[in-house]
Amino acid sequence: MKKQTIQTEFTSYDSVDLLPDVDRELLSIAKKSLENSYSPYSNFKVGAAVLLLNGEMLGGSNYENASYPLCICAEQTVLTTAANQFPGIVPISLAVTVRNPRQLIDRPGLPCGACRQVICETEMRYKHPIRVILQGETGPVYVFENGLDLLPLAFDKSFL
Ligand code: THU
Repeated sequence: MKKQTIQTEFTSYDSVDLLPDVDRELLSIAKKSLENSYSPYSNFKVGAAVLLLNGEMLGGSNYENASYPLCICAEQTVLTTAANQFPGIVPISLAVTVRNPRQLIDRPGLPCGACRQVICETEMRYKHPIRVILQGETGPVYVFENGLDLLPLAFDKSFL
């Protein structure tokens, strides 16, 4: 028997003002995209934005369905949109922000497990880490240097 430990790391910024310009720009696109959120069931708005290696930035939001399991997360919207609009161009950063009319979110919004898996797949597909920048309505901003830090021991194609 051998106990194993998994370590992961991220940087917490007390204020968005401490982030590099490019991260702040990406977060502001995520925030704008959040206005397009179609979330009549949860009322939880999620905006995401991706930065590509060619400098292009694009945004997306969550898209819900009366058949609840069909809700599409903002992260998946934007990563699949990027892959289709800019095929072959590597995504290098992903910003995510959230808003909930029922409670002030005073901490960074966290990607669900499925989105973490999709971020990891995209990293493996392009063989490039994705910087993940997470923001709430107030409070700190978390930055993960890659998706795998959000999902240690992720499932991958080596099993298939
Ligand atoms: N949601 C996202 O867009 N991203 C996540 O990582 C977590 C959840 C959305 C899905 C649904 O529309 C709403 O938030 C509530 O779960």
